[in-house]
Amino acid sequence: MNWMVKWAGAFPPFALEAHGAEFLDVDGHRYVDFCLGDTGAMTGHSPAATVAAVQEQVARGITLMLPTEDSVWVGEELQRRFGLPFWQFALTATDANRFSIRLARQLTGRPRILVFNWCYHGTVDETFITVENGTAKARRGNIGPPVDPSITTKVVEFNDLAAVEQALQPGDVSCVLTEPALTNVGIVLPDPGFHQQLRELTRKYGTLLIIDETHTICAGPGGYTRAEKLDPDFVVFGKPIGGGVPGSTYGFTQQVAEAIALRQNLEDCDVGGVGGTLAGNALSLAAMRATLKKVLTQKAFDHMIPLAERWTDGVAKTIAEFGVPWNVTRLGCRAEYLFSSQTPRNGGEGHDAMDFELERFMHLFAMNRGILLTPFHNMALMSPATTNDHVDQHTKVFREALQALVS
Ligand SMILES: Cc1ncc(COP(=O)(O)O)c(C=O)c1O
Repeated sequence: MNWMVKWAGAFPPFALEAHGAEFLDVDGHRYVDFCLGDTGAMTGHSPAATVAAVQEQVARGITLMLPTEDSVWVGEELQRRFGLPFWQFALTATDANRFSIRLARQLTGRPRILVFNWCYHGTVDETFITVENGTAKARRGNIGPPVDPSITTKVVEFNDLAAVEQALQPGDVSCVLTEPALTNVGIVLPDPGFHQQLRELTRKYGTLLIIDETHTICAGPGGYTRAEKLDPDFVVFGKPIGGGVPGSTYGFTQQVAEAIALRQNLEDCDVGGVGGTLAGNALSLAAMRATLKKVLTQKAFDHMIPLAERWTDGVAKTIAEFGVPWNVTRLGCRAEYLFSSQTPRNGGEGHDAMDFELERFMHLFAMNRGILLTPFHNMALMSPATTNDHVDQHTKVFREALQALVS
């Protein structure tokens, strides 16, 4: 993959095998994995329940273009977790976002979407946009945008409700697509009351609200949506839902479902731009059922969240010990440090706190001592298989890195 060359160092470690919260590379080095496939393996690598279900299903049909009973169980479980009644499946969170956006456009008849500065929602064309000094432009590195993204998208800073209102007022925005807390530019938490007012504004201007829980599932079994009682029109959830087996989902309200049904055209429903031949395949659904039932449970979160607290405490104490102008933030079982003394309030501040060379130093220093962080920022994720000892190994290495930096 193009981005695999971006790992710190001249080449990435090549993986031999991975179990739980650890993996072994082809040279025989063992690592504690806090990257966990950038959330795809938040379940720990190859969780036993998912492996068993996949082994069984793989011998009984992988993809059929027909629903299996697992889809009913998974749909009902997602209803229970997120409170939304209807669920569709895709293979990636990118696609789940794309399909939700398409539906929002169709239902509202509006052309544009609104996102927050330095968001990441996968390779969704509309979202590769940033804003600087009030000017929106294609995000740096955006490869071959189909059109100037400012034609399709408005972009404002997270936590800036006045800017949200200004953007929604003209009535041309079909949906707001956001993570409930930004996780791809450091962790940026919402201000108190932000979500309530965002919901009020979207309702006031007839704009649908899509909450992307792909990373914020770290907040609990029903993501941030359930933990903080959000009330979105759509929820998107991908990556770890099948324990690492490709699969994703997007759910929506009764009202949205009824509006979709009114517009559904049976003859053309396979060419509407929503779907995918392998979406909802039997293997994905078997993996999702086992993962939701036995791996990403409340009990697992009760184990994972205190570990992230321990990781955060260790980093915070070390930052204080060496007096470096850094900070660390946590959301559920995810934590991240950034190179600024203040926690960021929006994507612009989060982005300004990044330092590519320093980040690479920290990553390489850690990798050389058997610790893997998420590749492109300083994030650590806890899995059900992560232990106190793993966390303490990170704290020790983090301290050695700071000692080396300030000496
Ligand atoms: C919040 C969020 N949504 C969606 C995606 C896209 O996921 P995928 O690459 O699996 O399509 C990502 C990927 O990092 C993400 O962080």
